[in-house]
Amino acid sequence: MITPAQLEALFDLRDADDSDYVIRAVDVRKIYRTGEVETHALRGATLDIHRGEYLSIMGPSGSGKTTFFNAIGGLSKPTTGKVYIDQVDIAQLDPYELAWLRCRKVGYIFQAFNLIQVMSCLENVTLPMAFAGMSGEDARDKGMEILSLVGLAERALHKPAEMSGGQQQRVAIARALANSPSIILADEPTANLDLHTGEEIIDLFDRLKAELGVTIVTATHDLKMLKKSDRIVWIEDGLIARVSTPDALDIRVEEIH
Ligand SMILES: Nc1ncnc2c1ncn2[C@@H]1O[C@H](COP(=O)(O)OP(=O)(O)OP(=O)(O)O)[C@@H](O)[C@H]1O
Ligand SMILES: [Mg+2]
Repeated sequence: MITPAQLEALFDLRDADDSDYVIRAVDVRKIYRTGEVETHALRGATLDIHRGEYLSIMGPSGSGKTTFFNAIGGLSKPTTGKVYIDQVDIAQLDPYELAWLRCRKVGYIFQAFNLIQVMSCLENVTLPMAFAGMSGEDARDKGMEILSLVGLAERALHKPAEMSGGQQQRVAIARALANSPSIILADEPTANLDLHTGEEIIDLFDRLKAELGVTIVTATHDLKMLKKSDRIVWIEDGLIARVSTPDALDIRVEEIH
């Protein structure tokens, strides 16, 4: 088994060879089986995601966006097809290595937040830091910094149930930033936010991309977020239907709603 240090060195090396692609999905298929029913959620999705790009994924409800996120973030195994993160075929990693990769490289903002209800806002944010081996005090300081970034410092000790949907969404965003990931996968991150807070989160993503070279991949119907994107990928019925740029948006605004 590869030790964390070896794996880190491996990824540093891969990073240094400045391959243009941070994630590659090749002919990813996912079939969910529920009793007798088979759902073909992804039917051969192929996509290369460039390092440092801001990519938006659009598509109707049920088209496969969350399933695609789960596959490229290493959260669920495709039925067939390959996913590479920094050129590593993630199917080749054992569970420990995959957990390491997810913890350090990928910040995941779930559509349903997935906050731990019995933990405070700060504890939710520092939990991934503890998994990554950061000391309690450092984690606390960093957690408070990140909570300030999303405008929730004064809510640090509140539990999710004591917060609004938009505030919980911001905690989920803060948690995704915990281990300074190089990739952020955000499933509808502004869906529950008011206009102003939504804009702040979009600006934050924009800064993470511009200043730190973080790759941002979001599923979104938010026009402002789409306009900031380098590319927009349309998923329809489990397939990548087309890839466009925000300039081409004006003629397609009706499809956003
Ligand atoms: N765990 C599961 N078991 C069975 N079917 C599933 C499961 N998860 C998703 N599906 C089905 O797979 C298809 C794709 O679902 P997915 O959640 O990826 O869509 P989506 O594009 O994210 O939709 P939305 O915009 O509503 O979030 C849907 O038909 C859905 O019902
Ligand atoms: Mg979804």
